[in-house]
Amino acid sequence: MNKILITGGAGFIGSHVIRLFVEKYKNYQIYNLDNLTYAGNLENLRDVEHKSNYTFIKGDIVDDLFLTELFEKHQFDSVIHLAAESHVDRSILNPIEFIQTNVIGTVNLLNVAKNFWKNDYSDKLFYHVSTDEVYGSLDNSGFFLEDTPYDPQSPYSASKASSDHFVRAYQNTYGLPIVISNCSNNYGPNQFPEKLIPLFINNILNKRPLPVYGKGENVRDWLYVVDHAKAIDVIFSKGKIGETYNIGGFNEWKNIDLIKVLCKTVDKKVGNPVGTSEQLLTYVEDRAGHDLRYAIDASKIMNELGWEPSLQFEEGIAKTVDWYLKNTEWLENVTSGAYLEYYNEQYQNRG
Ligand code: NAD
Ligand code: DAU
Repeated sequence: MNKILITGGAGFIGSHVIRLFVEKYKNYQIYNLDNLTYAGNLENLRDVEHKSNYTFIKGDIVDDLFLTELFEKHQFDSVIHLAAESHVDRSILNPIEFIQTNVIGTVNLLNVAKNFWKNDYSDKLFYHVSTDEVYGSLDNSGFFLEDTPYDPQSPYSASKASSDHFVRAYQNTYGLPIVISNCSNNYGPNQFPEKLIPLFINNILNKRPLPVYGKGENVRDWLYVVDHAKAIDVIFSKGKIGETYNIGGFNEWKNIDLIKVLCKTVDKKVGNPVGTSEQLLTYVEDRAGHDLRYAIDASKIMNELGWEPSLQFEEGIAKTVDWYLKNTEWLENVTSGAYLEYYNEQYQNRG
């Protein structure tokens, strides 16, 4: 019986990882540890919550005593660590929370895992889920490789880079068996509407302005979230201890081009006349320190572990828009209350 602790499982990517693992590994016990911040939502897991191999635990990874008691109680064999503060704009408004969860929380988990496993590391694994943003910003050419030097530019990416360094330090110093993956931008169902794609879908549905930062020329490399979850499964099952794997879709889009595809897709699906949503485009003050371009070279995971993305972007966007159109109650629930406060603070003076 493999007991896997997955942190951040009530969030966007975590909920897709939990679903995949609970359904695929019926003989594993899957524990979802999540503090249910604004980004954590148990509605994301309604279809798996009654499965006998799934347990939800509410708790904070910043609380090291709580983590020690949890490991004592459940004797986990492996950890897949996704819990994090994940939004760049929030890290610009409030960097301290990012240091708490992303750095201190990660080190607490590493420390507890090391203390529990140190007498016998066999069959143990600490899998840390990270981001391509640790590599910094590219100009118009080149790709991030696994050995690209770290050059984080935002408080979010600096906190993730710091956590990656601690994960490697725990392997180097204590022999903790670790693996790290660094993924590009995810999109798909259940993403909180602070990130570009769901925020724009929500604003289109509410006929609100679509705030394009700067000139909309920044480039991101988009991957459907279920493909990321599958990559995490492949790395968890077949990845080499101590290795890093970059995950990406070889799918670069300039923001403004992606936004236009999104506008057309929503207009078509809700029956708006052509061009309706594009009229909502509003160019606003740029994000501070806005990274120009991210692009992942995912050859290593493709060649060594046989993973590849399964969805073409247009198909993924259509599925994503369909999900948000079908789940308006989910969208309404997460965009009331504290969301409005965040929205006003982030966007009201941007122009
Ligand atoms: P998310 O913000 O949707 O979810 C984060 C989850 O972590 C939430 O459920 C939240 O409640 C939980 N959490 C936050 N602080 C916690 C704490 N102190 N203790 C316990 N739980 C806590 O994030 P996401 O977009 O699903 O990202 C998941 C992971 O993947 C993060 O580590 C992120 O850095 C990484 N990542 C994200 C992307 C992306 O495009 N979203 C791409 C690459 C890597
Ligand atoms: O690359 C992986 C990273 O991708 C993850 O590690 C992060 O957790 C995730 O949030 C994401 O970071 P980005 O900053 O790239 O994603 P975001 O959706 O916030 O923004 C995507 C692009 O869209 C970026 O260039 C900023 C721009 N943007 C975003 C918002 C929210 C706008 O133009 N307007 C907006 O309102």
